[in-house]
Amino acid sequence: MRSIKRNLLRAAAIIAMLAIALTLVVAGRQHLTYEAPYPAVHASTDSALIARGGYLVNGPAHCTGCHTDDAHEEAYLRGETVPLRGGHSFELPVGVVHSRNITGDTTHGIGALSDAEIARTLRYGVGSDGRAVLDFMPFYELSDADLAAIISYLRTVRPDATPVPQDEINAVGRIAKAFLIKPMGAQDHERPADVQPDTTAAYGAYLANSIANCRGCHTERDLTNGSFIGQPYAGWKGMQGDAPGVAFNTPNLTPDTRTGHLRDWDFDVFRMRFRAGPRFTGSPMPWASYARMSDDDLKAIWNYLRSLPAIDHETGPLLADDRN
Ligand code: HEC
Ligand code: HEC
Repeated sequence: MRSIKRNLLRAAAIIAMLAIALTLVVAGRQHLTYEAPYPAVHASTDSALIARGGYLVNGPAHCTGCHTDDAHEEAYLRGETVPLRGGHSFELPVGVVHSRNITGDTTHGIGALSDAEIARTLRYGVGSDGRAVLDFMPFYELSDADLAAIISYLRTVRPDATPVPQDEINAVGRIAKAFLIKPMGAQDHERPADVQPDTTAAYGAYLANSIANCRGCHTERDLTNGSFIGQPYAGWKGMQGDAPGVAFNTPNLTPDTRTGHLRDWDFDVFRMRFRAGPRFTGSPMPWASYARMSDDDLKAIWNYLRSLPAIDHETGPLLADDRN
């Protein structure tokens, strides 16, 4: 009896010591920094390049959808130009995280950062301070030309001195920061120098996978590390929405004749659906940005989706019942 008690006490002491050690290690690993090359990408004042950048930022790359504040959501949906002052909050298992001010303000925005620093953040997920940026922006395979176009446009955005609230990282987030969160832009990705827009499935693949990130939401993921666990574009059941208690099933976009969401659609239905904007409050799909995509870009994405291997995967209604 007594030896059981002694063993329990010893186990408790060991656990307490481990907990203290873990707390210290976690505290010591909150400011980890990472290395990544600085891309040789430079902003330019070329008007065609700036126009391309503006189209990407406000349209398919949906930077604006995340980098404007909630007060401007309606105006953005109406097609207006809205400030990229950040502050949109994301409630995650790791805490509350805010998008940054990406206007040219030198204190609160990115005005003091070099082109190469901004390019490195977008290409490798390493922030200007060396931190691992959370995996919100998988632009890791953007062409050099499109990266330059985006930065050229950002340089023309009027500086806005609105500060962004501090992130509130919780205990789970501190542990994740210490051990799990790493820059996601692996250095061995394929990166084209330039990609010419057209309506082919090949350009559609570049848009859907490297710019608009359709794949990221329409494929099932493991949320603990972001890896893809489902078949590409076969849909994802139970994706959390932006409103509490609401979840969505992202539909299967492959051309499967039984379960494919687009099985009875033609290109015109697809195009009109994108022009129409959101149907559900709290849908994470950036409809306001995608509504600004050109017909040609929509056609390229359509052609790409039609070229995917058909996968039989039933995803159910778009709005999932998350109340039980
Ligand atoms: C899905 C939402 C989302 C999209 C889309 C998005 N961002 Fe972000 N962005 C964020 C969040 C959240 C952060 C803060 C992440 C962090 O600090 O770990 C951030 C951080 C940044 C930073 C880092 C600023 C700094 O402090 O150094 C830059 C630059 C940036 N975004 C630019 C862009 C550009 C350009 C685009 C479009 C090509 C874009 N973002 C698209 C959510 C988004
Ligand atoms: C951030 C996550 C996210 C991204 C990125 C995303 N989707 Fe979705 N998508 C959803 C969700 C959630 C739904 C279901 C709710 C809704 O319809 O708004 C959906 C629904 C759809 C629908 C069905 C709409 C209807 O009314 O029948 C289509 C088609 C679609 N997505 C295509 C795309 C394409 C193409 C892209 C890339 C250009 C894309 N999605 C990017 C999350 C996303």
